[in-house]
Amino acid sequence: MTKIIAANPASIEKAAQIIRAGGLVGMPTETVYGLAANALDGQAVAKIFAAKGRPAFNPLISHFASPRAIEPFAHMDERAKALAQKFWPGALTMILPRKESCPISDLVTAGLPTIAVRVPAHKTARALIEAAGVPLAAPSANPSGTLSPTSPAHVAHTLGDKLDLILAGGSSAVGLESTVIDLSGETATLLRPGAITAEALSAVLGQPISIAGEDSPIKSPGQLLKHYAPQTPIRLNAIDLEEGEALLAFGSIKFMGVKNGSAAASLPDNQVLNLSEEGDLHEAAANLFGMLHALDARGYPRIAVMSIPETGLGIAINDRLKRAAS
Ligand code: TXA
Ligand code: MG
Repeated sequence: MTKIIAANPASIEKAAQIIRAGGLVGMPTETVYGLAANALDGQAVAKIFAAKGRPAFNPLISHFASPRAIEPFAHMDERAKALAQKFWPGALTMILPRKESCPISDLVTAGLPTIAVRVPAHKTARALIEAAGVPLAAPSANPSGTLSPTSPAHVAHTLGDKLDLILAGGSSAVGLESTVIDLSGETATLLRPGAITAEALSAVLGQPISIAGEDSPIKSPGQLLKHYAPQTPIRLNAIDLEEGEALLAFGSIKFMGVKNGSAAASLPDNQVLNLSEEGDLHEAAANLFGMLHALDARGYPRIAVMSIPETGLGIAINDRLKRAAS
């Protein structure tokens, strides 16, 4: 089992050495934990694909310590600069035209003329990128097609024997993968909803953005794949419970019934987790993957999930829930 080490200057330096030597590091970020390698080193990047069982046509995000560090790698137009100014460091990934001279491994970009870039807000992530001195390619640190990890323990359980070290930096504060916006063409297109909403992005851009899958074809290879799936079947928008189902609640369950005539509120603690008793979407996002992981491990035949409002952060939560249920 891989060592989980608390992030501090010494462990970050050790992790940076592993990165420079071509190894894999579990890296905390504010969205989810990443599986990081030197983005310039094709052999190191190949280990990411092998560890995750990820198809090679699905490109990775490159992580930088500052917007300025992206300069040699990608073309940032005025739109990209405005979004960087407003949302970086943070939970936003931009798809930009790759520069001719960009030294990133072709495996990272899956041979595309574009590159996905993000400046994470988590202090440990930025310290690690700076110490390594190279951009870090990092997908979410989970086997391909399963739930993303929001704690070092999730990473250790599913990929523990495949990476060299996990830097522990607490639970991921956001809890959902970054918003992905494609700026490689004339129309700004939302490829993956996240904590930074389409409304917030179009407010900065001063024009509406198109939504992939609704207004335009899906352009993110990863969005086509089965994703974020627990082992246990999921039933969405539950208004009451079938007997034996576990409940992933949102808001009060005072008035929820079970089909055998009893009340959801009187079920054993083990059978119910609440994303947010107060109905707070930020709290629900931060709890989502951890609670799905936890209920998944308890062996119930199905997980019923109460409905989440389709506004603001709720759009990203519902996107992940639909994928988990498909
Ligand atoms: O929050 C996050 O974004 C986390 C943390 C670790 O930064 N990373 C993450 O990576 O979620 P991953 O690999 O699980 O998701 C990256 C998504 C995939 O859907 C991939 O297809 C898409 O970004 N992507 C990457 N490069 C792309 C490109 N050039 N064009 C279109 N989509 C791209
Ligand atoms: Mg992922």
